[in-house]
Amino acid sequence: MNLIFLGPPGAGKGTVASKLKDILGLPHISTGDLFRAAIKNETDLGKKVKLIIEKGELVPDQLTVELVKERLSKDDTAKGYILDGFPRTITQAEALETFTKIDSVINLEIEKEKVIKRLSGRRLCKECGEGYHIEYMPPKKTNTCDKCGGELYTRKDDNIESISNRLEIYTKETQPLINFYTEKNLIKNFDSSLAADKVVENVANFTKSL
Ligand code: AP5
Repeated sequence: MNLIFLGPPGAGKGTVASKLKDILGLPHISTGDLFRAAIKNETDLGKKVKLIIEKGELVPDQLTVELVKERLSKDDTAKGYILDGFPRTITQAEALETFTKIDSVINLEIEKEKVIKRLSGRRLCKECGEGYHIEYMPPKKTNTCDKCGGELYTRKDDNIESISNRLEIYTKETQPLINFYTEKNLIKNFDSSLAADKVVENVANFTKSL
């Protein structure tokens, strides 16, 4: 089963996809995570995309498509995958169609005001990447990961300027994908303002029908 997660920054794509990954036994492939790993490891790709990501701009289509094509050629995607944060432009979506077939596009809907609150309170574990929110999903011990005890940090693009930029770019470049996939009869909308567990349950139930 090949799934795409669509939705504005902070809609909960990463939160829901990381739970669904365990439920469905499919790899969760987040282009944002792949880019952040490249930045952390100071690879050539990481050096190219560091500033772009911190400002909340989009990485050029060609670089992003190549990265995804390469990732989808790995053996662990044989039974399917969950793509989170890709495609983000019509050009990327058209390129994706040339090397794989999508079964469904999970569109997480949420108002923009809620997104700002979610992103400004997001914290991530430096060691294992587990996600938290200081109010909605707080760790048991302040600034410490429940899973591995690692220190929590705030993403560099979770500041108010980058968040506004990401939201603007989402509206201009990514939102048109809703029509693109609606015309292909692939879109399924979910209310992502509900509690995270409920969103996960709703998406998991839907995937049983695929
Ligand atoms: P990426 O990492 O994909 O960032 P994003 O799309 O901005 O999405 P986020 O990770 O911010 O949000 P999310 O929807 O995953 O929310 P989350 O689950 O964490 O991309 C980063 C950058 O990489 C881009 O800006 C771009 O530069 C580049 N990039 C990536 N892909 C690219 C592409 N295809 N083309 C070009 N460039 C690309 O949740 C957010 C917070 O809310 C968390 O704290 C969470 O705990 C909380 N939360 C989640 N769900 C709920 C809930 N139901 N109730 C309460 N709180 C919740």
